[in-house]
Amino acid sequence: MGYQLRSARFLAQDALRSLLCEGCTAVDCTAGNGHDTCFLAELCGSTGHVYAFDIQEDALASAAALLQREGLSDRVTLIHDGHQNVLRYLSDPVDAVMFNLGWLPGGDKSVTTLWETTRTAVSDAMTLLKKGGVMTVCVYPGHREGNVERENLGDLLSSLRPQEYNVLHSVFANAGPGAPECWIVQKQ
Ligand SMILES: C[S@@+](CC[C@H](N)C(=O)[O-])C[C@H]1O[C@@H](n2cnc3c(N)ncnc32)[C@H](O)[C@@H]1O
Repeated sequence: MGYQLRSARFLAQDALRSLLCEGCTAVDCTAGNGHDTCFLAELCGSTGHVYAFDIQEDALASAAALLQREGLSDRVTLIHDGHQNVLRYLSDPVDAVMFNLGWLPGGDKSVTTLWETTRTAVSDAMTLLKKGGVMTVCVYPGHREGNVERENLGDLLSSLRPQEYNVLHSVFANAGPGAPECWIVQKQ
């Protein structure tokens, strides 16, 4: 089957696959083990670039190893810092920004994204988008911090002016209260 309705993360990837092409610039605000970073780097091609943030050194080491194995290292800059500091590193417009919130799968669950810093990061990263650029945010309720992020993220993104951004919210409606959600925001 060519199409599978699988997860919030795949919804985000589907949107970015339609958008990104050779020469594009993207930001992965939650690099983790580097799977999304690799995905973005493939799409941006050898003339594009990806900037990827994470606060965990171990995660970035795994991401670096994956990028090396895939031959993508030279098109990615890994940044060991919180995504809330994105504007300290980037000022030129970008085509895409990706957030995959929560904790690292298989990692330390106490190191999770927190609304206080997520709010700054989402608000600031959004300002970097080019006209037509897209930000995706996957959020995982079902634990305390995830519930806080889900609720506040909804308030923040739902209140964006439609003259400036189009905002799509996807939910797996029959998957129960802790189901992951995907937000797709496009700058007008
Ligand atoms: C769900 S994981 C990301 C998975 C990743 N996209 C992948 O493909 O493997 C979330 C990541 O966000 C990171 N994180 C938590 N707080 C952060 C912050 N303030 N800035 C940047 N990354 C953060 C965690 O260390 C964790 O690696």
